[in-house]
Amino acid sequence: MSIGLPRPADDAPPGWWSNPDAVSWVGPGTGDGATAFHAGIDGYAPTALIDLPALAEELGVGRVLAKDESSRFGLSAFKVLGVSWATHQALAARLGIQATPLTVADLRLACSAAGPVELVTATDGNHGRALAWMARRLGLPARVVVPDTLPPAVVDAIRDQGATVVAMPVDYDEAVRQAARLAEASPDALLIQDTAWPGYEQVPQWIVDGYATMFREIDAQLRDAGLPDADLVAVPIGVGSLAQAAVAHARRGPSGTATRVLGVEPDSAACVLASVMAGRLRSIPTGQTVMNGLNCGTPSSLAWPYLRSGLDATVAIPDDAADRAGEDLAALGISSGPSGAAALAGVRVALSGEGHGRRRAELGLTRASTVVLLNTEGVIRTQGGDGPSQWNHREGPRA
Ligand SMILES: Cc1ncc(COP(=O)(O)O)c(C=O)c1O
Repeated sequence: MSIGLPRPADDAPPGWWSNPDAVSWVGPGTGDGATAFHAGIDGYAPTALIDLPALAEELGVGRVLAKDESSRFGLSAFKVLGVSWATHQALAARLGIQATPLTVADLRLACSAAGPVELVTATDGNHGRALAWMARRLGLPARVVVPDTLPPAVVDAIRDQGATVVAMPVDYDEAVRQAARLAEASPDALLIQDTAWPGYEQVPQWIVDGYATMFREIDAQLRDAGLPDADLVAVPIGVGSLAQAAVAHARRGPSGTATRVLGVEPDSAACVLASVMAGRLRSIPTGQTVMNGLNCGTPSSLAWPYLRSGLDATVAIPDDAADRAGEDLAALGISSGPSGAAALAGVRVALSGEGHGRRRAELGLTRASTVVLLNTEGVIRTQGGDGPSQWNHREGPRA
């Protein structure tokens, strides 16, 4: 047992951190109910877990499987799993409904009979689009705060779901503060945010509980295919709520697994890497990255204890690594936006270059290991004013 947080090894690249004690950490798991609720939503189906033997060969492991969130509820990203469950729970609590889970239709009915409610959030893309989608299904208005640097097609994708978009000249962290202020100023508003800070932790916990559906699906799919638990799951990180769900699922006590969790962040927004290296939750300035969904400067306060103690390793990657991974996944028939392709890019960075043997050992990988990549988003196409466009891919030649 080491004392305090482990330090990066001498031969580790600047964007690498690992924690040998994480695999034996035990956490409180995630709450129940979300998976049954999701299964009752129109259009629900487990997303595919796709075997990619060419990548297994390249990475020197037994199997690589991609959990393909590009088709989740037709929204091209996993985020709706968290939004839908957190909205269900927050509305049930507000309306004083005890018998849950309700169906979306029953929740809509209950909302129509109650006083006005407006769903509010901040987003760098996928979360806001998912909230707008859920609000539309519930017949509720939604207001979504975005940094004004988001590509117009991102904003169109949120508006296309019927939400009001408030674009502000701020970064993601400030957009979150602004949405919280807007919500505080209106008695009708219900803030559904996917990151936590002291005093705002219940809704983000429901978001994380909603993400658990993805991990339960993976377990069932591996079991159905006669495969053992994954040895490693690679998780793109923005504020760390998804990584919290991954850690909580793997380290949930007696029924948990020895699956190691690798976090992957853009090198321009590696707030979890900065925090685990400092041993305390840190905010960092962020700039531009193709990985829009991961462009966050502050880890979720709720995720932080899970990441500090239960995350096995984390790696920071440059934009071009995410771009290349997206192209390679496309060539294998998988639609992958840069934030989703980050999972593959992160495993590649970890397993190549100086010190790769040591990092492979730190991840517990052998030639027989099973690696699951969370492809958290597909290439997202929208029908904006100027015709179809892709909103999570660089247009034209690479910079
Ligand atoms: C596509 C995609 N992948 C991963 C993430 C990271 O999730 P989290 O912010 O919970 O770390 C996000 C966040 O919005 C995202 O949009």
